[in-house]
Amino acid sequence: MTSLLSVQNLRKEFGGLVAVNNVSFEIGKGEFVGLIGPNGCGKSTTFNCISGLLEKTSGTVEVFGVDASEMRPDQIQKLGMTRTFQHTQLWKQMTVIENLLVPPRKQFAPNPLMTLLRGRTRIEEKERLEKAFAVLEQLEVPHMAHNLAGELSGGQSKLVDIGRSMMGDPQLLLLDEPVAGVAGPLAMKIFNNLRSLVDATGISILVIEHNMDFILRQGVDRIIVMNEGNVLMEGTPDEVRSNRAVIEAYLGAAGDGGEEE
Ligand SMILES: Nc1ncnc2c1ncn2[C@@H]1O[C@H](COP(=O)(O)OP(=O)(O)O)[C@@H](O)[C@H]1O
Ligand SMILES: [Mg+2]
Repeated sequence: MTSLLSVQNLRKEFGGLVAVNNVSFEIGKGEFVGLIGPNGCGKSTTFNCISGLLEKTSGTVEVFGVDASEMRPDQIQKLGMTRTFQHTQLWKQMTVIENLLVPPRKQFAPNPLMTLLRGRTRIEEKERLEKAFAVLEQLEVPHMAHNLAGELSGGQSKLVDIGRSMMGDPQLLLLDEPVAGVAGPLAMKIFNNLRSLVDATGISILVIEHNMDFILRQGVDRIIVMNEGNVLMEGTPDEVRSNRAVIEAYLGAAGDGGEEE
């Protein structure tokens, strides 16, 4: 397996709180992998450390074989890895297509609008526009192109956010709860689209999902289960389904509220 992402002994403390204790895993080329675990177990913090947004307490991150442990978010993005955030923020007064033309927040320039304002050639603009329409086509929502982002449902916003992350042709996509708060049928459609994207283009996707029952039925190749800052196990959906430690972790966490947003 060619490893596109290699996380080794990742640890992140916030003051006295150990958010991520000791996490190691690898993502191979063309893999569709789920990262799951109860609320507060350290999933988003893991993404924040991988993408260079948070300084790690210790551990290493390699992206496409390059040591990215000390890199800034924009440098890591240039290697070919893009991530989304758990809480989607679109430019509400802009249309869907315009949102796709703005680079994802915090990952390119400090102020994404500056990137838009920086002069581009007409050919570049035309290519980006064509790319944006192709992405909407791929996500099966080309009809939404000229809708105002502020008028979209939560689920549609999530789709546009995924579209935005695809604009730079990443080889590796990290999605933080892309279907949180999205109604069942649309959530399944989004996962179907992600599966097709992986199969059609050979890119790799690591997706955080809170709902265990849901992820087990979405055709991911592999699932990494986290609990209390550690990797509890990783395996196929079938292996995860029948793992006693996983069942206990989830039963133990039952009643913690579960759904966010
Ligand atoms: N910036 C931060 N400052 C302090 N504590 C944080 C910060 N981000 C996350 N935490 C804490 O770290 C733990 C893991 O959070 P998080 O990674 O968001 O979990 P998950 O995404 O699995 O729900 C939680 O206890 C959370 O409150
Ligand atoms: Mg989270």
